[in-house]
Amino acid sequence: MTLKHAMIIGHRGASGYLPENTLAAFSLAIEMGADAIELDIVPTKEGELIARHENDLTHTTNISQFPEFTDRLTAKSIYCQEITGWFTEDFTLAEIKTLKAKERHSFRQQSANYLHQVPTLQEVIDLVKHQRTSAGRAIGLYIEIKHSTYFRTIGLPMEEPLVEILSRNGYNTADAPIAIESFESESLKHLHQLTQVPLVQLRQDLTSASELANIAEYAVGLAPYKRLIVPTDERGHLLAPTSLIQDAHQLGLKVYSWTFRNENMHLAPEYQGNPQAEYEQFLLLGLDGVFSDFPDTAVSVRDRLHPSQ
Ligand code: G3P
Ligand code: CA
Repeated sequence: MTLKHAMIIGHRGASGYLPENTLAAFSLAIEMGADAIELDIVPTKEGELIARHENDLTHTTNISQFPEFTDRLTAKSIYCQEITGWFTEDFTLAEIKTLKAKERHSFRQQSANYLHQVPTLQEVIDLVKHQRTSAGRAIGLYIEIKHSTYFRTIGLPMEEPLVEILSRNGYNTADAPIAIESFESESLKHLHQLTQVPLVQLRQDLTSASELANIAEYAVGLAPYKRLIVPTDERGHLLAPTSLIQDAHQLGLKVYSWTFRNENMHLAPEYQGNPQAEYEQFLLLGLDGVFSDFPDTAVSVRDRLHPSQ
């Protein structure tokens, strides 16, 4: 069978090895052969866009060790979730630059903790701009806007500054090696009015035929949770794949899925502890790209299945 070139996207960088959303993690993903890197963005107090998965800095930085920030520990309701922490929108970029990143998960290596800063989106662009894959392609950037409705309601809209940064870098075009992703369809529909940059709709729940058709009106890609493609039963055992990839392809949508991780705790028992088996299954189903915390593993499978690309 002919397999197309599937995009290997380093999820928050090579975040299985280094603290997520840092320049070090992004560089490692590129070194490992990723075609693209994924980063999440949130704004600072003055609206600078920075690479963090959520606006609470507690779990991925050393902010709790800064006595001068103790009085900014606060409780907020974000999308009806009560969260206590230190939030990016309460700190200037200069303050956030004094922090150091740390590994989120206790089951992963901690040896690179407190070495790397929180990067701005511009710094991530500067890192990838002049790099190429081994096949000579530009490194792709998948930029996920986080909590965009929340930030708009507190006076920190993200869509306009994002498009401005992309324009400043010559990336505000349909063929730029960029995609903007979001779970929030209203944000993507707004971006559809502002930019030609490819848009990708993230989905965690089941997508009906009419929802898919609606997504195809403003997005070029769909990024469903992997269990919408290969479901599991209540004990975590694999069930037969759905037709979601084919259905989306019929509407002209590319399909990327998340998140692929090597640890046994993230693998269905049928893969017998072998993460390569999971990539193989999804790539053979026709997926256009995978978001992977371990891009080296993903690249090895993709290159084995399709060595010429
Ligand atoms: O961007 C794809 C995937 O990253 C979405 O989930 O929670 O890892 O941002 P999350
Ligand atoms: Ca993400």
